[in-house]
Amino acid sequence: MKSLIAGNWKMNGLRADSMALIEALKAKAAGSAPGCDVLVCPPSILIANAMAAVAGNPITVGGQDCHAEDKGAFTGDIAAAMLADFGCSHVIVGHSERRRDHAENDAQVAAKAAAAHRAGLVAIVCLGESAEEREQGRAAQVVTGQLAGSLPPSANGANTVVAYEPIWAIGTGKVATPGDVAEIHDVLRAELVSILESQGEAVRLLYGGSVNAANAHELLRVPHVNGALVGGASLKPDDFWTIVEAAPH
Ligand code: 13P
Repeated sequence: MKSLIAGNWKMNGLRADSMALIEALKAKAAGSAPGCDVLVCPPSILIANAMAAVAGNPITVGGQDCHAEDKGAFTGDIAAAMLADFGCSHVIVGHSERRRDHAENDAQVAAKAAAAHRAGLVAIVCLGESAEEREQGRAAQVVTGQLAGSLPPSANGANTVVAYEPIWAIGTGKVATPGDVAEIHDVLRAELVSILESQGEAVRLLYGGSVNAANAHELLRVPHVNGALVGGASLKPDDFWTIVEAAPH
């Protein structure tokens, strides 16, 4: 399965910073065509500029969130169809920062993923346990519950990516060990197959949480790791491109 390396820029970068970042990535892609799929998810207000900048380049652009409804009186929110209309291919849903800061639960994440599918987008469904849940030995149980609750009936191998992002590893520099990642990705793959049958084999499983230029090579070779969702390191073009080049192909 071809790897996907996705950069989640979160709420970082003014227009000039983001354009400089995208230009630097374009130059790298022109220098050596990526052997994996490469996605950047800028803040939504910068998506139009990012799309215009990547025209004709293999780098694709995605959103960081969408609303569960197709349109309506939802001040400040963005519909999946709006992201698709601007040329986005993917949208992240259920990131732990949104689950935490916007009290999103599994059912809402599933509704957002369904909205993404209706708009023709690939939903990147995020899940992951807290430090406390891991200490209690409940990591596998927590993520399988999140997966079952966050996948809509419309999910299949082509329109859904699952990102395992242990909360304690996000932005902390505390990366999960390859053994931790292997165990959880194994459990998630089995659960995907149990929910989606043969389609479950085709869903790409990303790891996210302090992925950087130094640890990417090893993490990307863990069984059932089909790519990475990168936060901080995706804002540094040299580091992000080192991760892109580390993907097996
Ligand atoms: P960091 O790579 O900064 O730990 O963030 C991971 C993440 O949350 C990506 O969605």
